Amino acid sequence: MAEQDRWARWLLEDRFGGDPQYAKEYLDKLREVRDRVLDHRLRLGDGAVLLDVGAGDGLIGFGAVDRMGPSGRVIFSDISRPLLEHCRSLASQMGVSDRCDFVEARAEDLGPIPNESVDAVTTRSVLIFVADKAAAFREFYRVLKPGGRISLFEPINRHGLDAFKYDVAPVLELAQRLRDFYRRLQPPDSDPMLNFDEHDLVAQCEATGFVDIHLALHIFVRPATPEPWDRTISIPGNPNIPSPREAMAQIFTAEEAARYEAHLRPQVEAGRGLVREAVAFLAAMKPTPQSATPVGTR
Ligand SMILES: C[S@@+](CC[C@H](N)C(=O)[O-])C[C@H]1O[C@@H](n2cnc3c(N)ncnc32)[C@H](O)[C@@H]1O
Repeated sequence: MAEQDRWARWLLEDRFGGDPQYAKEYLDKLREVRDRVLDHRLRLGDGAVLLDVGAGDGLIGFGAVDRMGPSGRVIFSDISRPLLEHCRSLASQMGVSDRCDFVEARAEDLGPIPNESVDAVTTRSVLIFVADKAAAFREFYRVLKPGGRISLFEPINRHGLDAFKYDVAPVLELAQRLRDFYRRLQPPDSDPMLNFDEHDLVAQCEATGFVDIHLALHIFVRPATPEPWDRTISIPGNPNIPSPREAMAQIFTAEEAARYEAHLRPQVEAGRGLVREAVAFLAAMKPTPQSATPVGTR
């Protein structure tokens, strides 16, 4: 395999915290998301071509290969060459290489993909990393045939941004310092992971010219599940930031780290916390000449 980059390291290793059982549960949940993305108004007929943008380790792309049968084709695109190589090797092991293509490209510039050449574009948790989301929507539109559809999933990270997951009152100053550390790395008003919500996705989609837009927002406020402390602090929240363990080593003294852990560890291990999470599933169509009459333009 090609040398790993931060995307490959995070997707193939870091996000699982070295725990195979946790990895299995994590991937089982992701398969539910994958099925929702592929079920969301995509209408993949015989001989369809699907482009998965930011294909990663192939979650959506291989799901599509399974569904589309022998006449369908899936294009896996990503900015990470190691992940594309990973998918290429999986396709070969699965015996589906003849139905898969692999293209190195940014969502904002899908240059190698010709105009009006695909029937469907999918993407999961990729636009959160893209600063110019409008450019990505324009590219999805450009490569789709008229009547082609997009289906995407993105976390809406603004939701619950200010709430702490655990009761941090007795160590509030430490918890705020840790949060400020991450906010300096990813400022909520300007970081692409945090500076948008579901309304922005719909507005960008509409401004691009898509029609038949449907967005489902799911908001969860649920009890945390018990987690091993060591695993929790070793997993970075995303590929662009250090793990809590690394962050704490940078900003806390040994005494502070011990005090923080003494307070938080029992809550984390007992699952005594509240998770706030929001995710959006968006589907839309590129109009055909017959469906293109805009009604109520902005
Ligand atoms: C969180 S992973 C999601 C991977 C995959 N879509 C999935 O559902 O598991 C984000 C992926 O987006 C890719 N990526 C990051 N920035 C990108 C960009 N500007 N254009 C295309 N892909 C990008 C990364 O290489 C990574 O594979």
